[in-house]
Amino acid sequence: MRLGVAVLAAGQGTRMRSTRPKVLHPLAGRPLLAHCLEAAQAIGAARTCVVYGHGGEQVRAALAGYDCAWVEQAERLGTGHAVQQALPALADCDRILVLYGDVPLIEPRTLERLIAVAADTELGLLTTRLPDPDGYGRIVRDAGGRVQRIVEHKDADVAERGIDEINTGILIAERTRLADWLSRIDRGNAQGEYYLTDAIGLAVADGVTVATASPADPEEVVGVNDRVQLAALERLYQRRLAEALMRAGVTLADPARLDIRGRLRAGQDVVIDVNAVIEGEVELADGVTIGPNCLLRDCAIGAGAEVLANCVIEGAQVGAGARVGPFARLRPGADLAEATHVGNFVEIKQATLGVGSKVNHLTYIGDADIGRDVNVGAGTITCNYDGANKHRTRIGDEAFIGSNTALVAPVEVGAGATIGAGSVITMNAPPEQLTLARARQKTMEYWVRPRKQPKD
Ligand code: UD1
Ligand code: CA
Repeated sequence: MRLGVAVLAAGQGTRMRSTRPKVLHPLAGRPLLAHCLEAAQAIGAARTCVVYGHGGEQVRAALAGYDCAWVEQAERLGTGHAVQQALPALADCDRILVLYGDVPLIEPRTLERLIAVAADTELGLLTTRLPDPDGYGRIVRDAGGRVQRIVEHKDADVAERGIDEINTGILIAERTRLADWLSRIDRGNAQGEYYLTDAIGLAVADGVTVATASPADPEEVVGVNDRVQLAALERLYQRRLAEALMRAGVTLADPARLDIRGRLRAGQDVVIDVNAVIEGEVELADGVTIGPNCLLRDCAIGAGAEVLANCVIEGAQVGAGARVGPFARLRPGADLAEATHVGNFVEIKQATLGVGSKVNHLTYIGDADIGRDVNVGAGTITCNYDGANKHRTRIGDEAFIGSNTALVAPVEVGAGATIGAGSVITMNAPPEQLTLARARQKTMEYWVRPRKQPKD
């Protein structure tokens, strides 16, 4: 079977009160629509077509990385009309699955179940039961439990409004049959729209048996109409991610205070304290601990490493057994080897720090290569930028950099060298020797401190 997916995304999203098209609002850091396209990918759709309307160019540009066809629905004439617009782009598919750009939490395994139950018939619906079905289309079944049709809430009578089985909107149908049913629907209803749901009654009249499946959790089919619902779905989604992590062996101090906006791969016995924000691709090896209030973006932290409170780590590598923070900032290109220590108010970018080296306080290391077992004193600055170009600083193994040293790059400090505190190093410092570059201390023997004249 070649599966085609039609994603309906032409809604205006008026209730978002936004200049941004609704389907571009982010959930877990990615546009709502991206979640649907990923679900389509996950179930192996041969082709996906997005039906867009409001803000179309912006939507296409934001999702340019996804392989799908785009069709504009210039006039929003209803869900049936929208699906009809997608069919030409899906002409080489046998079956069409309809998804919604503003229903992002749908699980691939739910869709797979729907596809499976509909395998022997031409139409399958995803339905669920809701305690408060108001507003939804209702599934009307006959005495034998066979689906007869769907009636929209606005067109339903009192008895039909009492039905608690609702249409999630998601369905699968044989393409040529669907095209035929859609060509026969009209706008004679309360909203004056071409209802996709009218295809069901036509199918039944044609003798088709309608299969149904349900999501494991009704939350999967909740749509986003305003920012209150968006925030609620964000929490739901984050809770799912947090639960999966905990089941995989991660301790979370509070699963409600972790936000993953990307992908987190975590080993066993990782411990994450409250208010961690994870962005992009983050990897935490076995036994890593993350202190409270850390932002980790596109980084890898080695086994047993400890990240203390309030660190910002982006585009960096941290070796096994290292200790970072509290209040450290690792920027892109920071590469810390095993057992290194980076302490408070230290910023490191485009720099390697060798095994066992320590940069413990108030320091800026940029564009540098630092060997193993180096001690960088408090207040050290690599002066890497001359206003036009960046230059590198090289520090050999076992060097000792005294506090408050300025290393004016390009410059090299040899292995085992010691730099006296307060030095401004502008020339290479030889290995194994003490180099000082500061004014010599002087004591003025004959100096007398001025004194106030006594008042009479
Ligand atoms: C629809 C279903 C209803 C179901 C409910 C589930 C119909 C007629 N009704 O109702 O049975 O219970 O979804 O949420 O299908 N869209 C377009 N183009 C259009 C119209 C809609 O792309 O011309 C898109 C919207 O952006 C939205 C989706 O289709 O994502 C649903 O449209 P909406 O108008 O919200 O349908 P409902 O009235 O909620
Ligand atoms: Ca809706």
